[in-house]
Amino acid sequence: MVLATVILAAGQGKRMHSSLAKVLHCLAGKPLLEHVVQTASKLYSSQLPIVVYGHQGDIVQHLLSHLNVVWVKQSQQLGTGHALLQASSSIPTDSHVLVLYGDVPLISYETLKNFISTTPAHSIGIMTANLPDPTGFGRIIRDKHHHIIRIVEEKDANSSEQSINEINSGIYLIPGDYLKKSLPKMTNKNAQQEYYLTDLIAIAAEENIPIHSTQVLHYQEILGVNDQLQLAKVERYYQCRMAEKLMCQGVTLRDPQRFDIRGDVTIGRDVIIDVNVILEGHVKIGNQCSIGPNTLLRNVTLGDKVTIKSNCVIEDADIESECIIGPFARLRPGTRLASHVHIGNFVEIKNSAIHQSSKINHLSYIGDSDIGAQVNIGAGAITCNYDGINKHRTLIGNQAFIGTNTTLIAPVEIGEGAYIAAGSTITRHAPAHQLTIGRAKQRSIENWGGPKKKVKEE
Ligand code: UD1
Ligand code: MG
Repeated sequence: MVLATVILAAGQGKRMHSSLAKVLHCLAGKPLLEHVVQTASKLYSSQLPIVVYGHQGDIVQHLLSHLNVVWVKQSQQLGTGHALLQASSSIPTDSHVLVLYGDVPLISYETLKNFISTTPAHSIGIMTANLPDPTGFGRIIRDKHHHIIRIVEEKDANSSEQSINEINSGIYLIPGDYLKKSLPKMTNKNAQQEYYLTDLIAIAAEENIPIHSTQVLHYQEILGVNDQLQLAKVERYYQCRMAEKLMCQGVTLRDPQRFDIRGDVTIGRDVIIDVNVILEGHVKIGNQCSIGPNTLLRNVTLGDKVTIKSNCVIEDADIESECIIGPFARLRPGTRLASHVHIGNFVEIKNSAIHQSSKINHLSYIGDSDIGAQVNIGAGAITCNYDGINKHRTLIGNQAFIGTNTTLIAPVEIGEGAYIAAGSTITRHAPAHQLTIGRAKQRSIENWGGPKKKVKEE
């Protein structure tokens, strides 16, 4: 039997109180729905996952157009049962249909594999959990033989039903032929006047279709995101899990509670990460690196023994071994640092290559530049790379010395070993191994009189 997966993601998410569709809210920097699709895509299936979308449909489809799925529209959001009904004609009759909810993003591949393999053929599988606090979830109602007979939504439950701790995760495995036959039998006679998918369980129980439940091992995996509070809880759980994984691989996290990953990260041995570090996108960190507190790395590669001091923002940058960066450095896209480069406080670099052992230690802006090896850029030296219309490059040869507060007006080239006097404004080529001074001569005027106060006219 083929496996078909349907992900329900058409709802608005009223309880989020947000203008953004719920499934577009991000967990670890990625939309909730994308998490579910990625997990579903790992399951062996000859079918692409089917996503039922609806609320803000154009935006959802546009923002997630990179996902390899079959999109099925639910124009009016009349409930989870109605949502699945829309996908009915896209589901092969001889399939087993795995139903997932787009707002339950932490469900893991391993848990789904186990669920699929433990659900007997021709029965309906349902994943449940016993929660210490079941508030908000549908409750599982069993008869005296412990057989599941129905699911009751919290809004429709009486007080004794509400005290049941076993909840519906929203993850089901249903034979395709049965699903197609029974979905049209649902009604919307309930507190929310919606077509509840959960009613299918009562219909199946009445028709003596075997219903098999699987308890989820880690209940956090089936936490749903219905409001901002739940989103924050799910995020923290996810982050703790990622932090644990890294610590098990040998990474030292000064405080795993204050560490965030929003992407794919590879970290070498003996790496120390201080508090409030955020790693986004694709981040690769070599061996023996140390990352100071309050630092953001987005799409960054670090070689071995790189030290990033506190409060740095580094994106789309490639940093080779033994560089020292920060505190308070900003490395923007296109920054490439060869080994042993030092970047100090309040230095901004963009689209520039800095070669081995060069130093830019204080208060500089280096944009669109190619800086040789063993160059020293003095405090406050900047490149003027933009003339208001075009960007121009600055080239600096090996071992050049750029004095404090130099202004390099691009396009401009500084020769190898050139020495630029402090305070210079450089507009033309500065030859190799020569001292170039580009500033007005200092002079002093005796008896200059000082400023005078204006006398008011009557
Ligand atoms: C649902 C279940 C509840 C379960 C809980 C688990 C029903 C009736 N209730 O409640 O038993 O404990 O999930 O998280 O199924 N959706 C559509 N179209 C719609 C309505 C919803 O596609 O018309 C989608 C939503 O986008 C969401 C998912 O279905 O991804 C679940 O909807 P939601 O409103 O969050 O249901 P819950 O109240 O959480
Ligand atoms: Mg929900």
